[in-house]
Amino acid sequence: MAVLVDPKDIYQWNFAVDILKKGEPVVLPTETVYGLAAPALREDSLAKIFHIKDRPTFDPLIVHVLSGESVKDLSLEITPLHRRLYSKFWPGPLTLLFKKTDKVPDLCTSGSEWVAVRSPSHVVFRRALEQVGVPLAAPSANRFGRISPTSALAAVQELGPRGVEVVVDGGDCFWGLESTVVKIVGDNSLEVLRPGALSIEAIMECVGDDCKISVREEGHGMQMESPGLTESHYAPENKKLFFVENFDEVFASLVGRDLQKTVLVAVYSDLVSQKYLKLNWGRVEILSESGNDLEAAAKVFRILRELDHSEMQDIFVLKCADKGLGRAINDRFKRASQKFGIKSPASPP
Ligand code: TXA
Ligand code: MG
Repeated sequence: MAVLVDPKDIYQWNFAVDILKKGEPVVLPTETVYGLAAPALREDSLAKIFHIKDRPTFDPLIVHVLSGESVKDLSLEITPLHRRLYSKFWPGPLTLLFKKTDKVPDLCTSGSEWVAVRSPSHVVFRRALEQVGVPLAAPSANRFGRISPTSALAAVQELGPRGVEVVVDGGDCFWGLESTVVKIVGDNSLEVLRPGALSIEAIMECVGDDCKISVREEGHGMQMESPGLTESHYAPENKKLFFVENFDEVFASLVGRDLQKTVLVAVYSDLVSQKYLKLNWGRVEILSESGNDLEAAAKVFRILRELDHSEMQDIFVLKCADKGLGRAINDRFKRASQKFGIKSPASPP
């Protein structure tokens, strides 16, 4: 079982750093979700990450660096748009794709000529970057396709049984959702490959009206470009999750049913009208009563993980508006409803 390390205890911390220096993966906190980190430029270390996560090697890893300066070694070309974006949003939850140099192993990018890079803001991760002295690859610290961990304990549950030695405890993650992944295409356009903790509105404001922004929709194109963004991801292991865009459509089929083992999840309370609440749900979960999207986002993976181990059997999630963090929240719930090839039935049970 994995050892929990307190980063404030210098002996424990040095133990974790030594393991990283040897090239072994260690779970570290970031401001988005916990990551399974190891030296990004060492193939043997990358192979260990893939093995621990049980992740197919066609799904590339994000490289974490201290600053825009550190990208020079990794990238053949840094465009003005790259500079504008990382000057504004690094350190923080933005991942940018760059044309890679030969220093970056093909295993890291799954053979792509593009490498994904971000600079995390979490003090513990940054301290690791400083002391290990090399870029660190870090996917979310969950088994492939499972719910991303937003606490040290969740990471221990995910990867302890898979043989990870050390999990550094940095408390609950601030954002609770992964970074936004962006590819710059041409001089003045960019594509959002994964919606995430940095809102598209904030990106638009930074790049200005002239820049064309597109959001890659789910489907084959995205799977090839960003293979980890397969339709089904984040699925609870033991429960069925229904992502409901328009509750009125399914309402009639639920009236009179025994919903005692069913939970209703809504992001904000104003999405749930009284007629929905009157049903005999086993549980109702509102992610943020006060309508605070930061609070709601931070709870998405936590609630999914908790419900997965609860006595509830089915989970109904109401879609929220596709704006700000709502876009990433909807994205995660939607993928969680598409369990490994089994689509949610058109009509609920
Ligand atoms: O917030 C985050 O980004 C977290 C923390 C730990 O930094 N990391 C994370 O990594 O979410 P991961 O591996 O769970 O998700 C990375 C996503 C995957 O969907 C992967 O396919 C995509 O980014 N990706 C990575 N490298 C890529 C590349 N070279 N080209 C296209 N997509 C890439
Ligand atoms: Mg992940």
